[in-house]
Amino acid sequence: MQDYQRIREEVLDSIDEEVESELRDLLLDINDHERNGDGHPHKLTRTEYFRHLLRLQLELVKLQDWVIETKSKVAVIFEGRDAAGKGGVIKRITQRLNPRVCRVAALPAPNEREKTQWYFQRYVPHLPAGGEIVLFDRSWYNRAGVERVMGFCTEEEYQEFFRTVPDFERMIVSSGTYLLKYWFSISDDEQAFRFQCRIDDPLKQWKLSPMDLESRRRWEQYTVAKEIMLEKTNLPESPWWIVDGNNKKRARLNCIHHFLQQIPYQEVEQESVELPERRRSEDYQRNPM
Ligand code: ADP
Ligand code: AMP
Ligand code: MLT
Repeated sequence: MQDYQRIREEVLDSIDEEVESELRDLLLDINDHERNGDGHPHKLTRTEYFRHLLRLQLELVKLQDWVIETKSKVAVIFEGRDAAGKGGVIKRITQRLNPRVCRVAALPAPNEREKTQWYFQRYVPHLPAGGEIVLFDRSWYNRAGVERVMGFCTEEEYQEFFRTVPDFERMIVSSGTYLLKYWFSISDDEQAFRFQCRIDDPLKQWKLSPMDLESRRRWEQYTVAKEIMLEKTNLPESPWWIVDGNNKKRARLNCIHHFLQQIPYQEVEQESVELPERRRSEDYQRNPM
């Protein structure tokens, strides 16, 4: 009984914080279905969402074991408008994985030195080695999105990007890396709603950058940039997959489910582990090794 209590406490303790942070998100999502009328006759309840998410996270652990075992390389790009939910799905993917295997690359704006380099150069060191999964929270597609819309690159640099990105991605893919590209799409109203939540919630204010506010003003230009980008870079080796981000819960489940389907992982047999006996201090004195 004592043991059971201890185990119970241990389990509850480990999930408490995660559940709480999920709950904060979900409270905001409670009217998701009504608000954005996502057309689903069946509303995804919190319990169902958690059940699906946990099952997917269990599969992600299997994928991770396979990636380690086969020394596979996986790179996933998450793009989309501000507040489309990229960060949310990335968080759920990494939540139960080993940070040495699955890591996030969220590069800041390029510094003066980086600005003089080959455009793709600063991204290259972040590409995965064997046994690694890298999630790009934004990527080289900045050039076709924020840099274009905010005027951070020249027309020439912008055109050069489209000329060279297919070769760049082909090289990544032909070197044996799985490369996946997700575009998170949200509606005008939904973005406005989420920005307002960020303004109102002290825990979320850090997510709201001056860039976000400006991107709100330039909604239409982003639409043009997005259409050009998706059309010009929907490559056979690395197509875009569009995630409907208007419902956060569904977007997360759909995206993770789809991601898992793209990688031909198999369950890796794990040897069973037994907890070794602790050595006693008398033993050390007799045999310090
Ligand atoms: P995020 O939405 O990723 O939290 P921001 O909204 O601040 O971050 O910026 C959006 C993107 O624009 C980031 O990927 C950032 O690196 C990029 N960015 C910001 N300023 C510049 C700049 N001056 N030149 C190029 N890229 C920039
Ligand atoms: P392209 O697809 O590169 O031929 O571009 C079509 C036209 O749209 C060109 O005149 C581009 O310069 C223009 N264009 C591309 N991106 C944007 C943007 N973000 N805002 C406004 N115009 C753009
Ligand atoms: C974004 O897409 O800008 C955010 O990372 C999404 C979110 O976590 O709400």
